[in-house]
Amino acid sequence: MRKLIAGNWKMNGSLAANAALLQAMLDGLGGKTPAADMALCAPAPYLAQLQSLLQGSAIAWGAQDVSSHEQGAYTGEVSVAMLKELGCRYAIVGHSERRQYHGETDALVAAKAQRALAGGVTPIVCVGETLAERDAGETERVVKRQLAAVIHAVAHCTSEIVVAYEPVWAIGTGKTASPEQAQQVHAVLRAQLAAATEHPERVHILYGGSMNAANAASLLAQPDIDGGLIGGASLKAADFLQIVASAA
Ligand code: PGA
Repeated sequence: MRKLIAGNWKMNGSLAANAALLQAMLDGLGGKTPAADMALCAPAPYLAQLQSLLQGSAIAWGAQDVSSHEQGAYTGEVSVAMLKELGCRYAIVGHSERRQYHGETDALVAAKAQRALAGGVTPIVCVGETLAERDAGETERVVKRQLAAVIHAVAHCTSEIVVAYEPVWAIGTGKTASPEQAQQVHAVLRAQLAAATEHPERVHILYGGSMNAANAASLLAQPDIDGGLIGGASLKAADFLQIVASAA
């Protein structure tokens, strides 16, 4: 399977900075087919800009969240139909920052994943343990509980989701899970997917958490690491392109 390298810009950017960053990435690709599938997940107000600048290129784009509701009186929410209209292929759901700062529960994340799929947008479902949970030996239990909620909701569409394992203690901290630590959890997730879908090998399981140009190759070399979800390093064209090249 081709690997998938997805950027998560988080709450960063401006029209001018985005235009420069996207141009630098497109120039870096030089019209060639990249070594991995690429996507960038931007703040909602910039999705129209990504649509106009990335249309027809090798870089897909997506959102960082999506409403669990279809439409209507939900002030501040963005629907999957709106994302679809802006050409989004992906929507991140259940990022640890949303679970942590916005009180998103497993049930809400599952509803968002289900809504995204129903609207034709691929959810990138994030799971991951905190440092306290890892230290307590609960990593497996936590990630399986988080993924189980989504599998239960999307049922026979499980093979259409993307999963991202993002240990919370590795996000934005410069502390990456070792390739062996990450692979161990990815294998657990793959086995869980195998019980829910006939083709668990078709599901991309991305690693995220301080993945960068220097450590990407060793992580991506693991058998069950099918790509990366990249925060900080997706804001620098050269670093992001280097990570993509590492997938070769
Ligand atoms: P990071 O973020 O690469 O900056 O650690 C990853 C993420 O939160 O998706």
